Amino acid sequence: WPRPLRDRHGRVATDLRVSLTDRCNLRCTYCMPAEGLDWLGKDELLTAEELRRLLDVAVRMLGITSIRLTGGEPLLRPDLLEVVRDVAALRPRPRIALTTNGIGLARRAEELAAAGLDRINVSLDTLDPDTFTRLTRRRRLPDVLAGVEAAVAAGLTPVKVNTVLMRGVNDSEAADLLAWAMDVGAQLRFIEQMPLDAQHGWQRSEMVTAEEIHTALSRRWRLVDDRAERGSAPAELFRVAGTAHKVGIIASVTRPFCGACDRVRLTADGQLRNCLFARTESDLRPLLRGGADDEEIACRWLDVLAAKRPGHGIDDPSFLQPDRPMSAIGG
Ligand code: GTP
Ligand code: 5AD
Ligand code: SF4
Repeated sequence: WPRPLRDRHGRVATDLRVSLTDRCNLRCTYCMPAEGLDWLGKDELLTAEELRRLLDVAVRMLGITSIRLTGGEPLLRPDLLEVVRDVAALRPRPRIALTTNGIGLARRAEELAAAGLDRINVSLDTLDPDTFTRLTRRRRLPDVLAGVEAAVAAGLTPVKVNTVLMRGVNDSEAADLLAWAMDVGAQLRFIEQMPLDAQHGWQRSEMVTAEEIHTALSRRWRLVDDRAERGSAPAELFRVAGTAHKVGIIASVTRPFCGACDRVRLTADGQLRNCLFARTESDLRPLLRGGADDEEIACRWLDVLAAKRPGHGIDDPSFLQPDRPMSAIGG
């Protein structure tokens, strides 16, 4: 040890995405039904102590250098600050990021930064209060806007804003969202919608494509390709000509980036997944709760990664959506 998390296609995972809860305080229509989902029970969730143990194995023995905390909505996790502090105390210290819907962030950005969080990504699909309410089924737009500004002010930068465009819902807002993001000093990224919703209602023909997004933005700005720096990042970046700002497009469906993937995922209930679209998971809780030593846990992790498939296969005729929705897997 350390041994890299290498798969049979030569990719090495160094970025761990950890879901802290499957619960959410919004109900985005493209994600979950109005009544919510069948949430995990308290004893199913990994405790802060179990997380500390697993993440220590990940950074010390398996070469993980970057940890992203996600959900559901990670700010709903009561011991979030403790988790962030624990991650910041790991050696070698990983980079620590958080993906949130921004509700309640305005109050918490400072303490998160003080606990060791490095940066934040906020999900926001619209700037129109009525569209926000229709889309998320909650009246919380001002909260989210305040959250983004607080994250910038707390230095949790670069603050990135993730937007999923939907035809006839918010697709007319692309350019306005970019103007707003540049104004508040956040980096906006548009995400192609993926088949990961709880209702299994995704249709490719309904998806707003990367190309359409580029065309829409190009009506207001000249975008300069910035692809050189991309590495394993999901987002293709473009510089907005005449400004210091960049905008990203995450073309998961039409231009998949699986070949450069460096990610592995841990769900809130301790399931290790080698892909967002994996059809199988490996339950680490029996190891953790049954007295396994660090080496056994690390070996399980290596086995799971070795079996990672080359890509998500959304275009294969045999494609099946994962059993769990994105809110339960982690974004
Ligand atoms: P940074 O660029 O480092 O800030 O991280 P990120 O873009 O990976 O983080 P974020 O959680 O904001 O993810 C943004 C979106 O990228 C996710 O919501 C997904 O839509 C997409 N994404 C991230 N990882 C994967 C992946 O492994 N596969 C696919 N298909 N999409 C992913
Ligand atoms: N496809 C793409 N992105 C999605 N998100 C949620 N569901 C989907 C989906 N089916 C986004 C959220 C958030 C990020 C974590 O993932 O809008 O920005
Ligand atoms: Fe919550 Fe994210 Fe799903 Fe919206 S997309 S309901 S913010 S988990």
